[in-house]
Amino acid sequence: MPNELTSLSYHAGNYAPIHTTLNLRPCPSEGAIPEEFFGGQYVRNGSKPLQVDTSRGFHWFNSDGMLTSVFFERIAQAPGVTTLISPRSSVLSVLMEVVQAMALIVASLWGLIARPIRRTSTSNTSVVHNDDQILATNETGPPMRVFLPSSLKTVGWFTGMEGFIKEMTTAHPHVDPQTQEMFLFHATFLAPFTLCLNQPEPGFQGGEIMHDFGVSRKHTVMIDMPYNWRGQTRFGVFPRYEPEKVKWYTSAPCMIMHTVNTWDEETFNGTRVHLLLRPKQISHQWALSAIPFEFPHVPHRLQMAPTRFVYGNSMRTGDFAEACISNVKVECLVKIDVVALLARGLADPPSQVDGCVDQRSVAEVLISDDPNDPIKVFALPDGWYAQECSFVARKDGQSEDDGWLVTYVYDELQLDENGAAPETSQSVLWIIDALEMKEVVARVLLPQRVPYGMHGNWFPEEQILGQREVERFRK
Ligand SMILES: [Fe+2]
Repeated sequence: MPNELTSLSYHAGNYAPIHTTLNLRPCPSEGAIPEEFFGGQYVRNGSKPLQVDTSRGFHWFNSDGMLTSVFFERIAQAPGVTTLISPRSSVLSVLMEVVQAMALIVASLWGLIARPIRRTSTSNTSVVHNDDQILATNETGPPMRVFLPSSLKTVGWFTGMEGFIKEMTTAHPHVDPQTQEMFLFHATFLAPFTLCLNQPEPGFQGGEIMHDFGVSRKHTVMIDMPYNWRGQTRFGVFPRYEPEKVKWYTSAPCMIMHTVNTWDEETFNGTRVHLLLRPKQISHQWALSAIPFEFPHVPHRLQMAPTRFVYGNSMRTGDFAEACISNVKVECLVKIDVVALLARGLADPPSQVDGCVDQRSVAEVLISDDPNDPIKVFALPDGWYAQECSFVARKDGQSEDDGWLVTYVYDELQLDENGAAPETSQSVLWIIDALEMKEVVARVLLPQRVPYGMHGNWFPEEQILGQREVERFRK
């Protein structure tokens, strides 16, 4: 667990939670906001710590979810609207909530209330669209439905058909862009530990907290990581609707937070399942690039297929493994041509497991003037930091990467002499040209800062307008 200094770092600067809820309001912007953005909304999830408790080793992942969004409303003179769901503002109200929660838990354990507490998920990690609903997710419990665009109100737990998802699941459900089916699983600390399609998944030997997993059009890939470096990482692959047919494959021990993409390839002797990560027979295990790479993003319509480009976050020095136990700051957005690097790796394979196709650092990629470079880096100015990006495609785009990346950025020059973020400091939403990864085409100035957080997602106008009606919201 993090030490005291580390804990404090997650309360410092722009990690610190905000305590002000803002109603809808127009936001000033500069540059040309692409037409494709209007009617859509960018939503970012993150945790909102209510108190600084360094004795318990606070981490970035702690605390309930907080959504932050920019809605591009289709009216003149109002290009952006920001709504924040933030913590209670007074100490008294926080204390009252803590006392109330503890009383509810005790009453629930003793069976004194008609509706005992069943779930304590924080819903603070990601936000996805499925079946005309917007869901905030975390692996410690079922998704929580929220409603867009204007209110960001909480609707209630999403437990799936027949209440299947009752407890732990994954922070990253996968939605098939062709069939609109959503894939996730139910995990417990009691045997059989994991259920897929409401059936026990054979092969798990203990409770598994699986932040992410892989889903292609035909297969699902479960990930079973060891508890220490003497174990092995195992991948369980099964046909989409037949979890009982799982086959397990082993690899060197490693830590996997996110899968980038998963797809099938038909070969002369069957189907080969590709699972693209950061780090039947596992045929190739090498890295495509040596640069730090996290928060991978593949446009939704291209997921579960052999997409060419993936996007993500990076940093000039260090890596995310180190940063995760101190603090994570995103200095660069990157675009990686997976097809080009895979072809290069297959033509001249690096060594298995620890080999790497493109061994350049971020600094070396940045000085490249090759217009066809398979890695392109958008570096933020010194002292500016971004968050996870989402891709918005240009209508009638000429190539897969013809569109824009959208993300929140924060200029740390706004921090005071103690490194604290003043109440008056502000974040900005940037819209970046994804073709060349060089130009910020539009900026939307937010009324207050957005603390560094987890995952974001872009919701187009048709998903917002097509949401299921809500009878009543959760208080
Ligand atoms: Fe995640």
